[in-house]
Amino acid sequence: MARRIVVHAFGGPEVLRLESYEPPAPGSGEVRVRHRAIGLNFIDIYFRTGLYPPPEGLPFTPGLEASGVVEAVGEGVTEFRPGQRVAYGTGPLGAYTDLRTMPADRLVAIPDEISDEVAAAMMLKGMTARYLLKQTYAVKPGDTILVHAAAGGVGLILCQWAKHLGATVIGTVGSREKAEIARAHGCDHPIVYTEEDFVARVKAITGGAGLPVVYDGVGRATFMKSLDCLRPRGLMVSFGNASGPVENFNLGILSQKGSLYVTRPTLFHYTATREELLACANDVIEVVRDGVVRIEVNQRFPLDQAAEAHRALESRRTTGATVLLP
Ligand SMILES: NC(=O)c1ccc[n+]([C@@H]2O[C@H](COP(=O)([O-])OP(=O)(O)OC[C@H]3O[C@@H](n4cnc5c(N)ncnc54)[C@H](OP(=O)(O)O)[C@@H]3O)[C@@H](O)[C@H]2O)c1
Repeated sequence: MARRIVVHAFGGPEVLRLESYEPPAPGSGEVRVRHRAIGLNFIDIYFRTGLYPPPEGLPFTPGLEASGVVEAVGEGVTEFRPGQRVAYGTGPLGAYTDLRTMPADRLVAIPDEISDEVAAAMMLKGMTARYLLKQTYAVKPGDTILVHAAAGGVGLILCQWAKHLGATVIGTVGSREKAEIARAHGCDHPIVYTEEDFVARVKAITGGAGLPVVYDGVGRATFMKSLDCLRPRGLMVSFGNASGPVENFNLGILSQKGSLYVTRPTLFHYTATREELLACANDVIEVVRDGVVRIEVNQRFPLDQAAEAHRALESRRTTGATVLLP
């Protein structure tokens, strides 16, 4: 018998309930994976509250990211074999469990040098950082960029990777302790945005010129001010809503503020094919294995305390990555 977290009604962390279930034998193109660690992501909160509708409705098991060991493979699966270490970061939903059956074509093989916890923490967040820095806007040496929530899961990866690409990194954080963590991971100019006006600081740092790109996963609380940090024809990358979604935006503002561009990307459109997924994941594996990007697993919770993990993430008490342990 396996255990999984099930959501029967949208709501607060208390709707995350532990239940027993029997995963099906893997069918054609499927594998059964024994999880060793599960990645916690802010998107799990959006699904829990119903901000993002789960594709197959209620009830559902949250989670899109985990690492583990292949236990059994279904018909036609040639890329994976029992005993192999694997990880995934693009779902499908259902990672909050100790054992699951899922499509083989979403899995990636994990090399021995990368631990189970790091593998579970680096897939969704690392692949997000990768497409944001290399595809949504290709960061170049000499660029100065702004990363919001710089000490968070995606944030710490963005800071380190952008620094490696030759950028000067400005990052916002919710406390002085977080500022030190961001600084230790490549953020040249941490700004405590709960105390300081980040627009004024960005203007001062860039000599009034503004930035080519802002990476904003905070959403409602930072969106409008982020536009004021951009240079003319700069790119606003709004990739999340930790403080709430951005709604009712008047496009004319983009013209007034400098013929700006806005994109609202999601990882799933950058990893839709097997080729795209492998290119993205292998880039992440390489920077982690080479030590260019350190994946900081700063919080661990047992799977049955998923609600506590959600409370910590949504009340801004976490830094870096968080994993659930089955
Ligand atoms: N579009 C995509 O492809 C994609 C993929 C992955 C993640 N994301 C998004 O990226 C963002 C970061 O994800 P993550 O999992 O790494 O989370 P995280 O950054 O570790 O946690 C969220 C952080 O947002 C900041 N924040 C600011 N205002 C907040 C508020 N009112 N409530 C809660 N947090 C607030 C907090 O940092 P401070 O205290 O420092 O402000 C908090 O620690 C999320 O918006 C997520 O949805 C998007």
